[in-house]
Amino acid sequence: MRHLLDTKTLTRDEALSILDVAEDMADTQQREVKKLPTLRGKTVVNLFFEDSTRTRISFEAAAKRLSADVINFSAKGSSVSKGESLQDTAQTLQAMGADAVVIRHGASGAPRTLATSGWITAGVVNAGDGTHEHPTQALLDAFTMRKRRFGADSRGRDLSGLRVTIVGDVLHSRVARSNVWLLDTLGAEVTLVAPPTLVPQDVSAWPARILYDLDDAIAHDPDALMVLRIQLERMNAAYFPTEREYSRRWGLDAGRLAALGPDSIVMHPGPMNRGLEISSEAADSPRSTVLDQVANGVSVRMAVLYLLLAGERAGEESEDES
Ligand code: CP
Repeated sequence: MRHLLDTKTLTRDEALSILDVAEDMADTQQREVKKLPTLRGKTVVNLFFEDSTRTRISFEAAAKRLSADVINFSAKGSSVSKGESLQDTAQTLQAMGADAVVIRHGASGAPRTLATSGWITAGVVNAGDGTHEHPTQALLDAFTMRKRRFGADSRGRDLSGLRVTIVGDVLHSRVARSNVWLLDTLGAEVTLVAPPTLVPQDVSAWPARILYDLDDAIAHDPDALMVLRIQLERMNAAYFPTEREYSRRWGLDAGRLAALGPDSIVMHPGPMNRGLEISSEAADSPRSTVLDQVANGVSVRMAVLYLLLAGERAGEESEDES
């Protein structure tokens, strides 16, 4: 694997390969092997132009557990505030020896530009770009669903027949986009639920059913209900229902939690707006996989960095720009 830019172009075999390597990584963590020597001598740069807690820290933890050196760059407090361009920033970090660049950027397409411009030779991982994609989030979500469904017997399996409902601010959500493409590739049936004003215009081209009523969607008995964060920072008041109305009609409250089937799980990528899209009863319930998702994120990101930087040693010679 040369880069990881999206899930839309990821094949089923490539996705399963990442999930299976993530299983191996999770096994090493459970055996309390704190550090693998695999990426000794490699340097991973976390290049974050937008805020992050989970993604940045878990990429840092993943790189360190593989013995790579890590450089953390945050646009805040850097020469970006003096007008330095993405090209000059990236080339500066490449000159410091970056082998992989993990980038989060507010502009959709920035990771692809970095990967294809010829500015740098490092492998590029998209850690979230604008409203486009967040591929490692979708991979850790799929890993979590697969683990819940198959337990220790997950390797090599896809998500055929799994019913996944994604509810919330689909319009602004890179998490929803990456999940829809990956879940479809892995054989799951995806339903999207949102207020009509928070549905993207091109949604008819997505491999998903659209509903507007969360209670209707819950009546279809989803195996997983993924609640999206309301992205208030990207919201235009003209098309957002009031927070009170949103919470009443599309929020996962205690009543809707109780209406879910006995084995349904509740997911959220974080950070959560408690009391808006999800109640504390739901977020903290035994059905919630929120903290499993965070823990699984480290294993999945270890797998991605491993396949990017040591893949050839492991017999992976693909030059695919996944
Ligand atoms: N899920 C997610 O991307 O969280 P952060 O913004 O904290 O990285």
